[in-house]
Amino acid sequence: MSNHLDRLFLHHALSLAARGLGRTMPNPSVGCVLVKDGAVLAATRTADGGRPHAETQALAMAGDAARGSTAYVTLEPCAHHGQTPPCAEALIAAGVARVLIGCMDSDPRVSGRGVAMLEAAGITVEKMLLPEAAALNRGFFRRIAQGLPHVACKLATSLDGLMTDATGASQWITGAVARAHGNGLRAKYDAILTGIGTVLTDDPAMTSRAPNPSHAHLIRVVADRQLRLPLHSKLVKSANQQPVWVITSAESVELAASHATELREAGVKFLVVENGEAGRIPPPLRGRLGGGRDGTQALPTEILLHAESLPHSAPLQPSPYGGGGAPSTTADASLSPEVILRALAAEGITRLLIEAGPALSTAFLAANTVETLHWYRAPILLGNAGKAAVGVLDSTLPDAARLTLAEKRALGGDVYERYESNACSPV
Ligand SMILES: NC(=O)c1ccc[n+]([C@@H]2O[C@H](COP(=O)([O-])OP(=O)(O)OC[C@H]3O[C@@H](n4cnc5c(N)ncnc54)[C@H](OP(=O)(O)O)[C@@H]3O)[C@@H](O)[C@H]2O)c1
Repeated sequence: MSNHLDRLFLHHALSLAARGLGRTMPNPSVGCVLVKDGAVLAATRTADGGRPHAETQALAMAGDAARGSTAYVTLEPCAHHGQTPPCAEALIAAGVARVLIGCMDSDPRVSGRGVAMLEAAGITVEKMLLPEAAALNRGFFRRIAQGLPHVACKLATSLDGLMTDATGASQWITGAVARAHGNGLRAKYDAILTGIGTVLTDDPAMTSRAPNPSHAHLIRVVADRQLRLPLHSKLVKSANQQPVWVITSAESVELAASHATELREAGVKFLVVENGEAGRIPPPLRGRLGGGRDGTQALPTEILLHAESLPHSAPLQPSPYGGGGAPSTTADASLSPEVILRALAAEGITRLLIEAGPALSTAFLAANTVETLHWYRAPILLGNAGKAAVGVLDSTLPDAARLTLAEKRALGGDVYERYESNACSPV
């Protein structure tokens, strides 16, 4: 098979995998295309919910015809027994002759073992390592390696960088086309995070209008130290139809015990941080919960994070957005960005979109946790009476790293720009 055709089939697998983003947590979204004699026998991706894996489904679709075929996979086939047998084993059993891989799996349970198993069985394995394939898996890899999800932050501002006007109104800064694009972003994430300030001001529903109904699983998370989430909010009223999690402090749950009970009864899941303090945060994921692929576990309805008893984490790097990468300077550091992210990753979240007001957005930017910025800019000037999207970062010109402008387009009268804090490519 020519290199050109190999690339074509692998890109087909990548496009399938991209469709699964935001739907397979804690597993990666993998694409698999089975080809024999130039004809596609099967083409699929990891199923919603993370199982069955792409390879298993493709082999089932192809049946006996899979013997002697080439499998194009966006991620190294898994090699470990979890809730399903290893995909490498399934490829061997099906008599696949050749496997072409778009990205190696850094999960320590796989990490080269998938390739070794295939080669030991006499299968030809080739790597066509593509940056797009690595980018597709960035949330899965970051969770495994650092106990953090991939984090993106969405901001909609005036031309002069304001998120609200002088009255606090932000609906709507951008036009319908930009808003529809922004809503579409949600479909690629496992969860959206907002702050209680936005809930109290805007009462957002935070749903995704993506066409596939399965995205009713998009998890809506509120950072709410004082447990002020109103029972009558759209979020709480819809918590039984689409998940709503609140991340709060143990002190607040104790102080507002009856409110907490009512929220729980309404279907809200609690992530409670107890005695947390900056620098003392839940540990990286490895060995704590299933690390995805086959390690999926049923999620309990309430999580108590004993931050105090946990080891210190490695210090974060200085923020490319300015600021020292130090823990958030908010009043109660138990809900620092690091604590929030580790709690969410421990719950299986691999891809998080922050859609919050200036307070929470700034805290995450200052803590060096945001990898992607989705910035919608409207052609209006609001002056300095509204709220600036980004607050104090202690940036100076010499230390503020320049972001990479990865995408720019006009959306109606507005402009959308995507920035990356490193060289990672889209998704
Ligand atoms: N244009 C846009 O893109 C956009 C998007 C969203 C919102 N908005 C606007 O933003 C305004 C609300 O702004 P906001 O800054 O108050 O809202 P926010 O950032 O959504 O929420 C801020 C609140 O989150 C809580 N919080 C929990 N952990 C935190 C942490 N680590 N760091 C900082 N805060 C933390 C704090 O309340 P506790 O201390 O009580 O926990 C804080 O007051 C509204 O006018 C809304 O319309 C605009």
